[in-house]
Amino acid sequence: MDVSPFWLAGSPATGEAELTVTNPHDGRVVGTASVPSPAQVERAVAAAHAVRKEAAALPLHVRAAALAHVSRRLSERAEEIARLISAENGKPIFWARGEVGRAVATFRFAAEETRRFSGTAQRLDTEAAATGRLAYVSRQPHGPVLAITPFNFPLNLVAHKVAPAIAVGAPVIVKPAPATPLTALLLGEILAETGLPEGMFSVLPVPNDRAGALVADPRLPVVSFTGSGPVGYAIQDQVPRKHVTLELGGNAAAVVLADADLDWAATRIALFSNYQAGQSCIAVQRVIVEAPVAEAFTAKLVAAVESLVVGDPADDKTQVGPLVSAEAAERVERWVAEAAASGAKVLTGGGRDGATVAPTVLADVPRDAKVLREEVFGPVLVVQPVASVDEAFAAVNDSKYGLQAGVFTRDLALAFRAGKELEVGGVIIGDVPSYRADQMPYGGVKESGTGREGLRSAMEDYTYEKVMVLTGLTL
Ligand code: SIN
Repeated sequence: MDVSPFWLAGSPATGEAELTVTNPHDGRVVGTASVPSPAQVERAVAAAHAVRKEAAALPLHVRAAALAHVSRRLSERAEEIARLISAENGKPIFWARGEVGRAVATFRFAAEETRRFSGTAQRLDTEAAATGRLAYVSRQPHGPVLAITPFNFPLNLVAHKVAPAIAVGAPVIVKPAPATPLTALLLGEILAETGLPEGMFSVLPVPNDRAGALVADPRLPVVSFTGSGPVGYAIQDQVPRKHVTLELGGNAAAVVLADADLDWAATRIALFSNYQAGQSCIAVQRVIVEAPVAEAFTAKLVAAVESLVVGDPADDKTQVGPLVSAEAAERVERWVAEAAASGAKVLTGGGRDGATVAPTVLADVPRDAKVLREEVFGPVLVVQPVASVDEAFAAVNDSKYGLQAGVFTRDLALAFRAGKELEVGGVIIGDVPSYRADQMPYGGVKESGTGREGLRSAMEDYTYEKVMVLTGLTL
């Protein structure tokens, strides 16, 4: 099997070691990535630093054309890329195709936003002392971005860091997750077709224990990290003076109020607590349901969960595949067993076969159980009946996390109340918290992180406002 080269300052290179990637479903080898040596990492960082001024000066049409090219090539190679995502991550092919479609759009949105990246003019003659003065406010890149990306979306969560960097004229170094580097390396192949200047991008599949040196490097002033809370906060503590963006975890809640369409709510919650085997920061983990409909809703929910097709991720019909590894699945199984031992009822699921955990629904879960308090990152749903809307919203907020929440209601006033009172970065009315449009702001409050992604928001995050004042003008 060929070894995939990594991308050093825009060119393919091979390094000192190899990383073998296996399919979590059947353990077969999917591919091998070449791992850069410390000297090669140094060359990539030096090249990003050296090109930063040229990158910031790149005309918008050049950046937009490069981004549009990536979008087009991802679309042309969609099936091949979806198969690769599915093989290295274990994600069912249905969801992998969806991820490629989203990445096509993510790069397209970035190309569109690039063309709108014009800055603003502000007349200052609102005050007599500033008569004849005008401020031109532009956004300038902080500098090269270090993008540390997770395994759960091996393409689209890389796209969410790379595309806005190119859009604002910032070089970017990607450190992909060790479990899923091959898709990021394939993206590197497409980026290399764009003719962007040398040093504008590198994709370096270094092991996690070598990421600290990149984080600490002063030539990379922006660190954008998606992953677990402990790692994210360790990064922030390591470099408190850097611009650090953290997209961390969640234990997302869906609220089902008494006026909701129960069939729709049950179908959506069942699907989105189990999509990608629950390995999404906004997978539904808690379902908070108003007492008058709790019994009827729970029966529909359990039926919907039991109807999901679990199996081989390569099969078109599969909706739920394995977790990223057998160790991850063992941990989820252990958390479910702990909850059951302390009184929780297992309404369905609870078992494990290798890396695959059966879609699981739990009730009567003690308040301090890990499946309620922590991020499960597995196909596990906890049902919590509540007596009122007040209790429902309090239950959502009874979490250290705050990424997104879903509220199933048809009452506009309650929708606005939810939008105001829920302590999260996004409130989705009439659907699951797992809904994400790639062009909208995305990020959390509390321990779900800091900063926002979504093309426009990430472009703002990677830049600072710079004011130029013009004097003596006739306005
Ligand atoms: C995440 O897991 O935070 C990303 C979810 C998504 O992009 O749909």
